[in-house]
Amino acid sequence: MVAAHPSADEDALLDWNESPLGPPPLAVKRVIDAAERLHRYPRGLMEEVTELAAEHFGVTPQRVLLTAGVDEAIDITLSLAKRAWGVQPGFDGYPVRTAANGKPFHSIRLGPDWQPLAEPPCYINIHDIVYLAQPGNPTGNLHSDTWIDAVREQAGYVFIDETYQEFSSRPSILTRVVPDCGLLVYRSFSKAAGLAGIRLGCLIGEAPVIEALEPRRRFMPIDAISLHAAAGLLEEPEFMLRLREFVVHQRAGLVDLLLHSGLFNEVRPSETNFVLAKPHPTIAGELNRVLADDLIRVKDCAAVGLPGWLRISIGSEPDQARLHQCLDRLSSSLSATPCYREESES
Ligand SMILES: Cc1ncc(COP(=O)(O)O)c(C=O)c1O
Repeated sequence: MVAAHPSADEDALLDWNESPLGPPPLAVKRVIDAAERLHRYPRGLMEEVTELAAEHFGVTPQRVLLTAGVDEAIDITLSLAKRAWGVQPGFDGYPVRTAANGKPFHSIRLGPDWQPLAEPPCYINIHDIVYLAQPGNPTGNLHSDTWIDAVREQAGYVFIDETYQEFSSRPSILTRVVPDCGLLVYRSFSKAAGLAGIRLGCLIGEAPVIEALEPRRRFMPIDAISLHAAAGLLEEPEFMLRLREFVVHQRAGLVDLLLHSGLFNEVRPSETNFVLAKPHPTIAGELNRVLADDLIRVKDCAAVGLPGWLRISIGSEPDQARLHQCLDRLSSSLSATPCYREESES
């Protein structure tokens, strides 16, 4: 039996927003059972998982395209437009894939509250595709429906990336708008579904757009192991509810812990399975050092447009306890330091 959670001498992985509850048990069972048939092509499995996913997301199978993660979804949807847009700070996968596909990428700058500063830029037009993660990464927040609708009015295509949707207080855009050919929605199996290791996602759009995109995928692009894991998950969707409940509950606890540690200047509310926090500049180096000593990995957001901020995933209970102990130890040692005490009291 493989341990679901790392032991104390392994790294606590709080940097990539993975499942704090391990993988879905039925997915594991289906993968093990499928191992005996690895000499076969995944005949019929794409259809099976497409139908299960369609049922799960409440759409027809003709509106669903399975992709090898968000990267393949971005690659094939870029074929619909001449240019791509995204918010900054925002998910780095959009500019990276756009550059790899040889197309220009333009940024829409967010303000200090990580919201758009104004109406969507007037030069977004029907030849463009706009990539928006809702909730966002690294910001963990949502933009207003009004702003998103304004973008949809201008752009040829809007790709709403709902990778973190299950953790959000706002329902999927699919429940709110009458879909049209310009709207594409991406759902990941990596976060609430606990299957980051299989690299499978689901692109949802109007049937003619999905039909036009389908030939852009490779032949049988998703392997049998990934498809069996996804089928197992979709046959046991209660796992996602359990994971969502765990994350939403523990997220409040993590925000509380960070706020009361006295180590952070700012902690932002989150709609995702991670929390953004900005250490006091004077202790940021020391914080990095103690986290590294305790083998706790968090994401430094400098590379994704938020210098000075850390992104901390909601981890398993043991991993969160490790983080708690680490922060407590640092707080205690710093409060014994006269200059730190004076600064935090002022
Ligand atoms: C906004 C966003 N979209 C997509 C992904 C990756 O999705 P997938 O694992 O389904 O490719 C991530 C991963 O961190 C993400 O933050």
